[in-house]
Formats: sequence, C-alpha cells, structure tokens
Amino acid sequence: MATTQLKTPTIPITEIEQSAFCTTDEELASRSLADEFAVGVRWQKLPIEYMRMPPDELDARITESRSKLAERAVVLGHHYQRDEVIKFADFQGDSFKLSQLAASQEDAEFIVFCGVHFMAETADILSAPRQRVILPNLTAGCSMADMAQIDDVLDCWDDLTYVLGDHGGAVPITYMNSTADIKALCGRGDGIVCTSSNAPATFRWAFERGARVLFLPDQHLGRNTGLDMGIDLDDMILWNPFKELGGNTEQDLIDAKVILWQGHCSVHTRFTVDQIAQARAKLPEVNVLVHPECTMEVVQAADFNGSTEYIRKTIAEAPKGSAWAVGTEISLVNRLAAENPDKLVFCLDSVICPCSTMYRIHPAYVCWVLDGLNEGVVVNRIQVPEDTAREASVALDRMLSVV
Ligand code: 13P
Ligand code: SF4
Repeated sequence: MATTQLKTPTIPITEIEQSAFCTTDEELASRSLADEFAVGVRWQKLPIEYMRMPPDELDARITESRSKLAERAVVLGHHYQRDEVIKFADFQGDSFKLSQLAASQEDAEFIVFCGVHFMAETADILSAPRQRVILPNLTAGCSMADMAQIDDVLDCWDDLTYVLGDHGGAVPITYMNSTADIKALCGRGDGIVCTSSNAPATFRWAFERGARVLFLPDQHLGRNTGLDMGIDLDDMILWNPFKELGGNTEQDLIDAKVILWQGHCSVHTRFTVDQIAQARAKLPEVNVLVHPECTMEVVQAADFNGSTEYIRKTIAEAPKGSAWAVGTEISLVNRLAAENPDKLVFCLDSVICPCSTMYRIHPAYVCWVLDGLNEGVVVNRIQVPEDTAREASVALDRMLSVV
C-alpha cells in the first residue's frame, strides 16, 4: 500500500479564522469545504471533487467508505469534533481515554484520528508498529501546544539543570497538549505526561521524586492543579520563554515549587467570572461546570471542573430538570444539550466559538482519507521518529500507570 508522506505544516490561527466560525446563534452546521475556505482560512488543500462536495453527499460517501474498510480501520474522535465528523467515530473520548484506546485497538490496521496533531502523535507512539495513524487534516494543530517550541523548552531545561542542580532539580510534567519532542524530554528527564483527567495524580507522582515541578505548556491547568493540591500561589512562578531565566531570578527558581510554562488555551481563556455571575443571576440554581484549562479565577468561581469526559459524564448523570452552564468548547456543549433534553445545558459564553483547530477536521478530509485507504493509498500518516517515540513512550507509559 502506498503512503504519501507529507511534511506537517503549522498553520497559525489568523484573526479571520478565529472569528469566521463564531456565531451568536446555535447554528454551526458544516458547509462544503470550498464554502468554508471562502472566508480566507488556509487549511490543507484537497482534490477539487472533495472541496465541492455538499454535506449530504459527503455524509453518504463517508458512510460507504467507512463500511468498506470494516475492521481494518478504527475511527477515534475527540469530544470537540463537529457533529458531522463525530458521528463516524467508533469511539469518542477525552485525551486520556483516546490514548488508552489507541494503545488497545491492536486489530485495526489504521487508526483514523479525528482530533488534533498531538493526539495523533500520541496514538502513533502508543499503537503497535504495524498500525498506521492518520490525521485527516494535517493543519489541525493546537495553538496551546504551539506555544511550547522544543528549542525554547530545551533552553529552559538547560537553565533549570544549571540553576537547580544542587537544589533538588525539577521533575518535568508535560500536558498531553504538547509535541512528541517535549514528551520525549519528559521521558529522558525522569518526568511524566498528564491529561486534564489525571493531573493531580501526576503531581503526586512528581513530588514523590523531586522538590519541584516544571509544568508545560498550560499555565492554567498547572496552576489549578497546584492549588488543588494545596500549593501556595506564591510558590508557583511563570516561565516566559522570551525572557532570560524565564523572567525570574535564580533565587525565584530555587524557592519555587511549581514552574509554569507561559502557555494557554485561547478557547478556555475566553470564559470569565462575569459570565458565571450573569448565569447565576439569571438562574440561581444553575451548576457551573468548566474545563481546568480555564483561568484560576473561573475554576474557583465554578462548582465543578474536569476533563471533557468528566464534563460529559457529570451532565449525563445529573438529575432531570437540573441546569448546567458549561465552560468548554462549543461543539461539545451543543452536543451535550442535544443528548440531555431533560436538562438545561448552555455555554457560559453567549458568542459561541469552536476550537479553530479541531474545526479544521471537515468531513471532506475524513472522506478523502477513507477513500484513499480503500484505494490502497495512505494519506496524512503521522509518524513519530523512532528515537523520539521511544523516549516519549516512557513518559506516556508512566502516565497510563498513574491513577
Ligand atoms: P481533554 O483531555 O479534557 O479532552 O482536553 C483536551 C483539550 O484539548 C481541551 O482543550
Ligand atoms: Fe488546543 Fe484549546 Fe483547542 Fe484544546 S481547545 S485543542 S487546548 S486550542
């Protein structure tokens, strides 16, 4: 079977893209890819036939192509995927669940990952060598993961090794939302990977092994987890990759318990304490449920916080008639509202925006890669270099064994 190996492009989210798919009503239905391109986005180009295909034709064609592949392929979908894509997922989940699934689906020849680049990389590392992982649109990255470039992280690690060498060092923890290179650094640096569903357990693991933690790349998840564990806010400092020593003195680094990389999620930092206050003023009995990538102020003002799988499960198990204001990505919030008609589920933010990079998985890409597999051509394979994969898998295996 032929494989078309392409260099993975990083296409930054432009302001046009950031706002192009935001709306104030709840209509986020997919249009043809050519129509979505018309707003000026720069995603991966496709054969014109797929670009022009209307949504209903794409739907029928994916159904046909998917059934022809049968057990040869497994389709994994992250909760933030569009409805028109997630409906084809054999399994849906958060980052943790999807990595467990990628490690356990040994019979499938192909893992088609409807999610973003770091998730597909992780699936490649955790799956068997004979399995091939496919990301339908190579430009589906994660703007938070892009905030930690490996060269900057290596510089930081050298500085910390030099300054903290005689002071107990630092245990690196990287959030799943990071490149395989950073996971590899955590593997060889006696560190670990975490997701939003097991961050406290990985902090406990790290503090059994060292005096402090370097947490990459989401400062908010790191800070929220530190606070959860009873770590004082003053003992957590920021590392700004554009400043010498991250903008700290040597003494700051020695005194710190948690060093937080200065990264964030542009979707979750949209939620504010004001929005929570407004939701509570309108509906005093409302439950506020947010993702831990939100700021500390928002997480503390909320009633509950947790991973996307936790959010889904909490609402599914909630009593009939209960009300939920949710602070996470809109495709998931809309789906939860539809799946729970006996409850009131709405987004904290009235301007609803999808995660711009998750949204780059348009059904046309799914159709294109599945058709390719049926024709004997593997397009958009994600393949982590062997050395990197070996080191990264050490940190990922630690994550999978920590509860
Ligand atoms: P989950 O692991 O909670 O699904 O989070 C992934 C993510 O990217 C949230 O923005
Ligand atoms: Fe990355 Fe935020 Fe999108 Fe999650 S929601 S994939 S962290 S940009």
